[in-house]
Amino acid sequence: MWRSLCAVLVALLACLFGLLTFLVDPWITDPPRHHQVDVRTATDYAVTADQTGKLPVLLLMTEAVNAAMVTHALLVADAARPFFQVHLASFGGAYAKLLEESGFAYHVLSPVWTEEQTAAIYAVDQFESFSSPYTKEVLQEQISSSLQLYSKIAPSAVVAFFVLSASISARIARLPLFVDMSMTRETSTDPRAIAVSMPDSGVVAKLGLRTPLSHMASWLMKRLNFITPAFEAVAREWNITGIHLVWDLMEGDYTVISDIPSWAGVDAAALPPQVTYVGPLYGKLKKDIPKEVLQLRERATSEKQPLVWFAMGSSGQPPLVLATLRELLKQQPKWFIVAPVHALLAKLKINASDASAKAEAGLDSPQLYIPPELLPSQKVEPLCDLALTHGGQGTVHTSMCSGVPFVGVGMMPEQDLNIRLAVNKGRRAARGTHFIADIAPFFCTLLLPHTCGKPLAWGILGALAFGAARFLLWLKHIC
Ligand SMILES: *[C@@H]1O[C@H](CO)[C@@H](O)[C@H](O)[C@H]1NC(C)=O
Ligand SMILES: *[C@@H]1O[C@H](CO)[C@@H](O)[C@H](O)[C@H]1NC(C)=O
Repeated sequence: MWRSLCAVLVALLACLFGLLTFLVDPWITDPPRHHQVDVRTATDYAVTADQTGKLPVLLLMTEAVNAAMVTHALLVADAARPFFQVHLASFGGAYAKLLEESGFAYHVLSPVWTEEQTAAIYAVDQFESFSSPYTKEVLQEQISSSLQLYSKIAPSAVVAFFVLSASISARIARLPLFVDMSMTRETSTDPRAIAVSMPDSGVVAKLGLRTPLSHMASWLMKRLNFITPAFEAVAREWNITGIHLVWDLMEGDYTVISDIPSWAGVDAAALPPQVTYVGPLYGKLKKDIPKEVLQLRERATSEKQPLVWFAMGSSGQPPLVLATLRELLKQQPKWFIVAPVHALLAKLKINASDASAKAEAGLDSPQLYIPPELLPSQKVEPLCDLALTHGGQGTVHTSMCSGVPFVGVGMMPEQDLNIRLAVNKGRRAARGTHFIADIAPFFCTLLLPHTCGKPLAWGILGALAFGAARFLLWLKHIC
């Protein structure tokens, strides 16, 4: 009996160790704080910038499956226009249309992401799956397509917005690589930052495990490498070393952080020279406010009801977003809601422009407007009284700059952190507003049925690796 118990224990430990070595490289004693890549590719592949006296070419490569990455690229493109000939490129995606219509030269690289691969990118990004869409074959094709473009347009530099294969292709071509990130590697892996991303009301906090678990999570995060083997293998073929951790794909030769250092609690003077904070980069689409929004605003004012901005980004989890929106309509039928979630609902095969499909999904309400396309949120949100959001960085920045109080429910640790920073800074303003104080618990109870009631042990195990909230969401998917 004891012997078999021992065997089970040993097997369990072996499994855990297997999982650990799959996710992280436990052998690194002193994980690097910043990325250093070493390029030994033959100089034959080097692309030299066009020297004909025209403005230099700047290539912005963006992940067009994500709205935030596309809006970042477009903001940078606009700012760079006086100094560069700006070219845009992507591997396709739901938001590629914005690139196409931007008026800048736009190149579609191959292979174009399929719907399954897009879902896989999000699943990996949110730790819901470990099956990486970045296979060796995909990377090789992406790199070959990128190299062709580089030699065609001869850029002076490449700026990547979550285009992970650029960390290899730009190095092969010996082009300076700039990368856009929402926070530094140090902030993302800081135990204090991880601790605040764990909810106050969660099991972890109640058991007093926040500090030890955040240190363990930080240890793991600093060594995270579960999608990198394919990248490492391809980089090796090109004699490029230094790509080993997930962070090595996220950082460039120069890393640009779209945030405010004092806001993020970072001492800008202590940053290495290759890291720069450039302030918020949130979407400012050059479109007009749709008449539907203006009509809702008028009705909300005359009926003395709030107009709510319900924004869940493009990385939101569709089933959760649908459930929350449905519940919101049921519990607050008099509120007016602008919900730019068309693309998220489309992932559930719900066509929100179609009245009968909308009714079938339980979203049939004259108070609710789901725009068919992205809205100029910088113009629409200031018209709203309250925002209910997922706490994505751009969404938080838009709310702050619009002066609209928001209730955030993070769907991943980074978002929990964004929300916490805003709560800490905005506490004084929020205290006097009874309206918000009433709504926050309400919004949380909406989500509670989806995140609670899971076994304690699972919660603790999950919190170890990923932060409790995210793990519970993940559990919901697999249970
Ligand atoms: C990698 O390095 C080896 C040895 O220096 C060299 O023979 C080979 O051509 C290099 N490969 C590439 C793709 O540059
Ligand atoms: C969604 O419904 C609208 C209105 O019925 C229709 O015009 C549109 O083509 C539909 N979109 C898709 C992707 O089916």
